[in-house]
Amino acid sequence: MTTKWSYKAASSVWRNKKFRKGICLVLGQVDTGKTTLVRQLLEKALPATKTALVDADMGQSRIGPPTTVGWAIIENPEVPFESIKPGGLAFVGNTMPVNYMLQTLAAIKQCVDQAAKQAELVIIDTPGYVETAPAQALWWSVYQLVKPDTILAVARENELEPILEPLQSFNCYIKTVHPSDEIGQKSKEKRSRYRYERFMRYFAKSKRCDIDLNKVGIQYHGSQGMDNIEDRIISIRDRTGCDTAIAYVLGYHRRKKILTIQCPPIDRRRIRAIVIGDAKLPRGEQQL
Ligand SMILES: Nc1ncnc2c1ncn2[C@@H]1O[C@H](COP(=O)(O)OP(=O)(O)OP(=O)(O)O)[C@@H](O)[C@H]1O
Ligand SMILES: [Mg+2]
Repeated sequence: MTTKWSYKAASSVWRNKKFRKGICLVLGQVDTGKTTLVRQLLEKALPATKTALVDADMGQSRIGPPTTVGWAIIENPEVPFESIKPGGLAFVGNTMPVNYMLQTLAAIKQCVDQAAKQAELVIIDTPGYVETAPAQALWWSVYQLVKPDTILAVARENELEPILEPLQSFNCYIKTVHPSDEIGQKSKEKRSRYRYERFMRYFAKSKRCDIDLNKVGIQYHGSQGMDNIEDRIISIRDRTGCDTAIAYVLGYHRRKKILTIQCPPIDRRRIRAIVIGDAKLPRGEQQL
């Protein structure tokens, strides 16, 4: 969606050459227009600059399914992000960073590293998780690991100051833009429905598959272990430690250690570990 606001804001950002290459971290509260602005920045960058988008919003995921951070090279900014095949995924295991800070941090770092190998400009779109002390610590830690060249802050007032103020002394250029008054709020229901649809689309061509846990590694990203395992979202990890797909659990045979999952078509020989998170596949509208 191109809006007058996003067009003007992106133009003012793009005038500054610092935003034209390297790594740009976009921060802001929910519903401030971050993703709309990112799309408009891509319009500016393409086709001259090879640009990747890292989608670090694991709830309202556009690149890759919910519970993951995903990245992709963007070729045409008009194509919906949802229809772009990810260049890579990193599983977090939840749809929000809360209680999953390390997993979120690792996932962002992994995706940015992969994206930066291929793109001159890497833009990181983020969830609107900015206001608590743990949120500040998350973005400071992202700063430490990723070392963005620029930060684009979409701030209503001075709510981002606690995060930005200490970063100002570092070698990172920060620009603040203010959101349009016209930006609508997405209701909790709308967000849940979007997430549900993203899962449904991801699993549309999925198949049932048995995994022998005697033969593959098992990692836990959440606190629930194997309890209450049905419908939990898991990830399938290859020998490089990268997540190749997510799946959901249909059942677990404890004595035989056979996990039955539903997942997109995958080469089973590549499965080296599975990662179990706490998030569950929403089942029908009653759980939205
Ligand atoms: N200038 C604008 N005027 C009116 N509506 C807008 C404008 N910019 C964005 N919108 C709409 O407002 C909503 C929020 O915008 P957007 O998704 O870009 O925000 P966000 O900060 O990325 O949200 P989230 O926190 O969910 O990631 C969207 O429905 C979008 O279509
Ligand atoms: Mg967004």
